[in-house]
Amino acid sequence: MPVETVLYNARVFANGRITRGGIAIEDGKIFRIAKEINLPIAVNKVDLKGCLAIPGLVDVHVHLRGQMQAYKEDFFTGTSAAVAGGITTLLDMPNNEPVTMDSGSLKERMRDARSNILANVGFYSALPESLDEIHRVAQCGAIGFKLYLNSQIGGIGIDDDDKLLEAFKEIRELGIPIAVHAEDKEMIEKVSKIQQSLGFVDINAYLKAHTTNVETKAVRRILKIAHRSKAHIHFCHVSSDKTIFLIQKARKEGAAVSCEGTPHHLLLSSECLKNLGHISLTDPPVRTGKVMRKLWEALRNAQIDIIASDHAPHSIGEKKGDAVWNVKPGIPGLETLLPLFLTKVNEGQITLENLVRLTAQKPCEIFSLQGRGSLKEGYNADITIIDLHRQSRIDASRFYSKAKYSPFDKWSVKGIPVKTFVNGVLVMDEGKIVENAGAARILRGKALLM
Ligand code: NCD
Ligand code: ZN
Ligand code: ZN
Ligand code: ZN
Repeated sequence: MPVETVLYNARVFANGRITRGGIAIEDGKIFRIAKEINLPIAVNKVDLKGCLAIPGLVDVHVHLRGQMQAYKEDFFTGTSAAVAGGITTLLDMPNNEPVTMDSGSLKERMRDARSNILANVGFYSALPESLDEIHRVAQCGAIGFKLYLNSQIGGIGIDDDDKLLEAFKEIRELGIPIAVHAEDKEMIEKVSKIQQSLGFVDINAYLKAHTTNVETKAVRRILKIAHRSKAHIHFCHVSSDKTIFLIQKARKEGAAVSCEGTPHHLLLSSECLKNLGHISLTDPPVRTGKVMRKLWEALRNAQIDIIASDHAPHSIGEKKGDAVWNVKPGIPGLETLLPLFLTKVNEGQITLENLVRLTAQKPCEIFSLQGRGSLKEGYNADITIIDLHRQSRIDASRFYSKAKYSPFDKWSVKGIPVKTFVNGVLVMDEGKIVENAGAARILRGKALLM
């Protein structure tokens, strides 16, 4: 019996090294990785022309929007952008309209997503107030919970440490992680008010209200609760080396903590923020070149566990405005992450092995996404084919995302994804979406329900 598909004439990144050969796919799974002569016959043969097959990227921080925010992005455009960028699985954030914060809103979101996604999607939920509801949300298959410390989102009072401790303890029993946006609301509001009353409306004023101390204060607070609850905490978009130092220290003391870095915090500095203007405004904001270099050090030392896009699309109107205080923070990132970092691989700034670890292996380990994140026999055939030698230029006007702008617009890149397979189905070919929604799955968390 022939298998469904064989990808041949490839270089395959598996077991930490690259070997020539191909991949046989059957029932959406990797059936065999082998030298060409050892591959089975197939109905469908795809010549990869010497390109490199890596595990499909897993982006743990994406805002797909939809529902009342579909004017910013929807499930179809967001997941199209993902697969165009070589991302086969993503985790969707809960700050939606309505907020994903209980079993009802989570189920509704899953229902809306079902027939509209091209990449696999797992869902976060904001924290509901009651422990019972936390339990039900986990039962419905949330991959993790999300806690925003910079604004009140969800049912739990974010200023109440005792309540948070209680919730963290419950979630620790369920065995799923809590992702945290660590910026202290009170500190931001205090400085913002002063800056506004003085009439400051520029990016500098925004940076003064969102300092690295705003981040470390929130991180310190959560680490205390993490130690006491033993819950697994994942810090989103870390922007400073001080934060990373605190996380490392907590780790050494036995806390279950992880963190992610974003392309913008690693590749843009506050010096260029002033030139790029409002479209590159994001929370937390990008930092000085000096801090940026320290983040790179942390990335190479595996102190940053994951690279995630924090794809946060807004309408172009929402990104404009005379006063920085009226601009929506957030930038689209699904279509630029991989080309930007493949360029860094070509420049020798990061090894391909580390990039795969940061964008596929570790995300799956940390969020318990089984059978994904590596090219291995028996694993789901989520495969991204990259041409490491192809030179290109980022063109935001051609994004699949509804947010057709980027601080990386016009950047030259070397190394791009040329094909994306989701569960064994070719969904992107040479930049084009070639499949209707249907192959992708909704991923459910493996909560240990009692
Ligand atoms: C995100 C958004 O727009 O939803 N914005 C951002 O600046 N990163 C929210 C968030 O991730 O904090
Ligand atoms: Zn329980
Ligand atoms: Zn955030
Ligand atoms: Zn975000």
